[in-house]
Amino acid sequence: MSLLLASAAAYPGAPTGNGPKFRGWAPGYPDGMTEWGNLVDRVARAQVLDKVAGMVRDAVHAVVRPGVVKDAAHGVWLGHPLHPALAQLPLGCYTGAALLDLTGAPDSGSSRLIGLGLLSSAPAAMTGLVDYADSHEEQQRIGVVHASANSAALACYVSSLLLRRSGRTKGGVAAGLLGYAFAMLGATLGGDLAFRRAVGANHAAEVPHTGPEEWCDLGAVTDFADGKPARRQAGLIPVMVVSSGDGFTVLHDRCSHMAAPLNEGDLVEVAGESCVECPWHGSVFRLRDGAVVHGPATAPQPVLDWQVAEGRLRAKVRTIPGVPAS
Ligand code: FES
Repeated sequence: MSLLLASAAAYPGAPTGNGPKFRGWAPGYPDGMTEWGNLVDRVARAQVLDKVAGMVRDAVHAVVRPGVVKDAAHGVWLGHPLHPALAQLPLGCYTGAALLDLTGAPDSGSSRLIGLGLLSSAPAAMTGLVDYADSHEEQQRIGVVHASANSAALACYVSSLLLRRSGRTKGGVAAGLLGYAFAMLGATLGGDLAFRRAVGANHAAEVPHTGPEEWCDLGAVTDFADGKPARRQAGLIPVMVVSSGDGFTVLHDRCSHMAAPLNEGDLVEVAGESCVECPWHGSVFRLRDGAVVHGPATAPQPVLDWQVAEGRLRAKVRTIPGVPAS
C-alpha cells in the first residue's frame, strides 16, 4: 500500500484506489521509473519511426563506406566515440548565447556564438550520424528524434541570425531561445542514448573485474580445431578461443561495440595480422592483442592470458596496470 501511495505521489495523475496497481506509464515497466524515462522508452518502441530510421541508416551507409574516414568519425583513433566530444562545442555556444540574450547583453556577442555553434554543429552531426547507422533499432528510433530536435534547433538559430541581421532583434532573441529549447531536448536524448542505451559505451569494460583471476579450464587442447573460433565460458565471462597451430588466442567473446558474439564472426587477415570481424557491424579486432583495426568499436577487445597444462587449455584475465582484477 505504501508503495502504491509512493508511486501515486511520484506520478501526479497516476491511477489510485481499487483499480489495477499502477506499474508506471508504460505497461510492464517497473515502478519508480520517471515519466521522462517512460516517455523515451515509448519512443524506443515506436515502430512507426522505423521507415525513416531505416532510410537515414541506409543513406549513411551508402555515403560513408568502411575505411579511414568512417573509422576516424567513430573515434577509433581516440579510443572512445568522437561525437559526444564534438557536441560540446555547439551546445556551449548556444548556452552562452542564451545567457547573453537573457541578461540583455549586446546582440553582437550572441550572434557570434550562434554562428560558431552552427559551424561546429556540422562535424558533430556527421559523427553522430555515423554512430547512429551502426546501432540497434530502438536506439535508432530515439536517434531520429534526437536528430530532429537538433535540426529544429538549427533552423531556429539560422532564423535567429537572419532576424538579428535585419534589425528585428527581439524576434531573433525569441527564435534563439526556442532553438536552445530544442538543443536541450536533443542533448537530453543524447544522454539517454549514451547512458541508458549504452550507445558508444565499451561493452567489455567489466572484463578485468569479472574475468577469472585464477587459471580457468577451457577444455582439452585437442578440442580446438585450427582456425575455427570456439566459444567457451571462463568463470563469469564468455570467451572466444582460436587455435593457430602454434598457440592460442583467448579473447572476450562479447564485442566491445555492442556485445555481439565474436565467435560467430569471420577470421580475416588485415596487413598480415590475423583478426576477427564482428558479425553485427563489422568491427575488426587484432587477435594477438585485441586492438581495434576497424570500427565502429573504439575500445579494444580484452585478451586473456592462456597456458596449456596436462593437455588442457586454461585462461585467466589479464590485469590492467592500476586496475584491480576484482
Ligand atoms: S557489436 Fe557492433 S561491431 Fe560488434
